Amino acid sequence: MTMDSEVTNKLGPDILSYSVEKVMVRNIPQVTPYWQMRHIKELMRIRRLDGVPVTDDEGHLLGIISISDLIICIENKDLEAPVSKYMTTPVKCLILSKTLIEALREMNRFKYGRLPVVDEEFKVIGVVYWWSLFAFLQEALDTSMVVKKTIPSEGVISYTYQVLGRDFVHAGNASLQMRKSLQQLSIDPKDLRRTGIIAYEAEMNIIIHADKGFLQVKINSEKIEVTAEDKGPGISDVSLAMQEGFTTAPDYIREMGFGAGMGLPNIKRNSDIFQIDSRVGVGTKVYSVVNLIRRLK
Ligand SMILES: Nc1ncnc2c1ncn2[C@@H]1O[C@H](COP(=O)(O)OP(=O)(O)OP(=O)(O)O)[C@@H](O)[C@H]1O
Ligand SMILES: [Mg+2]
Repeated sequence: MTMDSEVTNKLGPDILSYSVEKVMVRNIPQVTPYWQMRHIKELMRIRRLDGVPVTDDEGHLLGIISISDLIICIENKDLEAPVSKYMTTPVKCLILSKTLIEALREMNRFKYGRLPVVDEEFKVIGVVYWWSLFAFLQEALDTSMVVKKTIPSEGVISYTYQVLGRDFVHAGNASLQMRKSLQQLSIDPKDLRRTGIIAYEAEMNIIIHADKGFLQVKINSEKIEVTAEDKGPGISDVSLAMQEGFTTAPDYIREMGFGAGMGLPNIKRNSDIFQIDSRVGVGTKVYSVVNLIRRLK
C-alpha cells in the first residue's frame, strides 16, 4: 500500500503561509479622530464590526476603536466626544506581506480580535478579524480532503481524497467532494448515483473500521474506477463481511445510525466490477468499476 507517498494534506504549512490579504476584510469605512463616538456606535452596529481602525485624512493608521473602548464611552455617557478621546493608540498592525500564521500568532499572543493591515506607507487597506481568519481556515479544513487532482494519462482524470478513521466531523466530505467533482462532467445521473453510493459506503468503512486511508476516483470516457484503501485492522473473513447484515460495529457506532452491515453488499451491488483485498493487521483495499451509460467526450 503506497498511500503515504500519495497523500499530502492541503491544510498544512502551505495554507498558513498565505498572505493576510486572503482573509482581510476590505471596504472598512475610513474613520478619522474627529468623528463623534455616536457615529462609531452606529457604524459598528450596522456593519456588525467589533472594532474599526482610525486614520488621518490620508488613510495612515493612527489607532483603533474597539467595542471595549465604546463601552467605556457609553458608561461615561460621552457619545458626543471625538474618537481621538477613546481610541487605543499606538496600535498593533500587520503589514500586507505577513502570513496567516503570523497573524494567528499575533492575535493569540495579544488576545486581539482584530488587526489592521497596512501597506508600506502605513496606510490602512483592510482589517483581519478573528472571524474572517476562522472562516477561511474552516473552509480550508473542509476542502482539505481534496488531496490531489492528477491527469495520469491521456483522457484520465484522477482525484484523491484523504479519509481519517473516527473523523466523524468530516464524515461524508470526501465522497461529497468526489460527487461535486464528477458533477462537473456530463455523467448520467444513474452512474453518478451508483458512484456516490460506492464512494460514501467505502469512505464510511474507513472512518468506522480503519485508521486512515484515501478514496480515489479515476474517470475516463468509458468508466469510473473508485478505490478506497486504508491502513487498519483488515478483515479476517472477507466472505462473512460481504454478507448482508454482518457487522462488527460497536454499539456507539450503531447508535449513530451506522453498522447495519449493508455497506459492502451495497458497494458490490452498485459496481460492475468489484474487488476486495484485505490483510489482517495491514489494511483493506476496495476497488469498484462503474461502466458509464453514456460515453464521455
Ligand atoms: N475498511 C475496513 N477495515 C476493516 N474492517 C472493515 C472495513 N470495511 C468493512 N469492514 C468489516 O466488514 C464488516 C461489514 O462491513 P459493511 O460495510 O458491510 O457493514 P458495516 O460497516 O458494519 O455497516 P454499514 O456499512 O451498514 O454502516 C464491518 O462491520 C467490519 O467488520
Ligand atoms: Mg460499512
